[in-house]
Amino acid sequence: MNQFIRPVQITAEAHLIQSFWNEHGAPVGVHMNTMVLASRQPVVFDTGVPADRQGWLDAVSTVVDPDDVRWNVLSHDDHDHTGSLEAAVEHFPNATVVASWWMTERLVGSIELDPRRMSWVVSGDSLDIGDRTLVFQRPPIYDSPATRAVFDPSTGLFWAGDLGAALGPEAVVHADEMPADELAASFVVAHGWISPWIALVDDAKHQAEVTRIADLGITTWAQTHGPVYEGAHIDRAIELLRAVPRGPVVPQPGQAGLDAIVASMLVAA
Ligand SMILES: [Fe+2]
Ligand SMILES: [Fe+2]
Repeated sequence: MNQFIRPVQITAEAHLIQSFWNEHGAPVGVHMNTMVLASRQPVVFDTGVPADRQGWLDAVSTVVDPDDVRWNVLSHDDHDHTGSLEAAVEHFPNATVVASWWMTERLVGSIELDPRRMSWVVSGDSLDIGDRTLVFQRPPIYDSPATRAVFDPSTGLFWAGDLGAALGPEAVVHADEMPADELAASFVVAHGWISPWIALVDDAKHQAEVTRIADLGITTWAQTHGPVYEGAHIDRAIELLRAVPRGPVVPQPGQAGLDAIVASMLVAA
């Protein structure tokens, strides 16, 4: 169930729209965050989960006038990043959805996007938003082939989508609010689940991909499913990304886990 959704200022220009979910009986919850950048042409990054729709629109509207939103950048097409996309198109009438051909194709039958309201941007492309140019890069770990993380070279702000995920029992904004060992363990496990194929990748190539992200010059690393990394926490997150192929690989809960959840619901009822 959703715990809350709220805007939290994380830089002079950026607000995290923080959403935290904790399913019945789960020992940890998951963030479903988005972000708003108050650049001259304001940008909304991702659109959250469908069940947050009204709360998300309200939260975004507290930090930017919906009529002023000029860009709605999608990191990728997963449901937890496109949940309010149709509502965003309606409520941000002057916004262009920054997607890609492959994202659009992968959403066919679920969300129909107006080609006249889109820009298509792939990894390696940049986007001029008036007072700055955003840079799009495919992260080294991802769960949709359409994924691009977004970097603002003028400030060092990085919208990473799924990259940096770390589950925990409590909602947090900044990485220093989580115990370091808990964050590290959760980070490696979560990225192994996001990209189970990472163990098949040549390690030198993986390290080169991580170095490409490390060399961007990130100062604030905001993301959907975990805390904001700043300062030394960015270096630590890069180290953890390097370590993901070495695991550990933690199996996902199977039928026994589901049975335990159902049993706990029966007790609660
Ligand atoms: Fe994803
Ligand atoms: Fe996600």
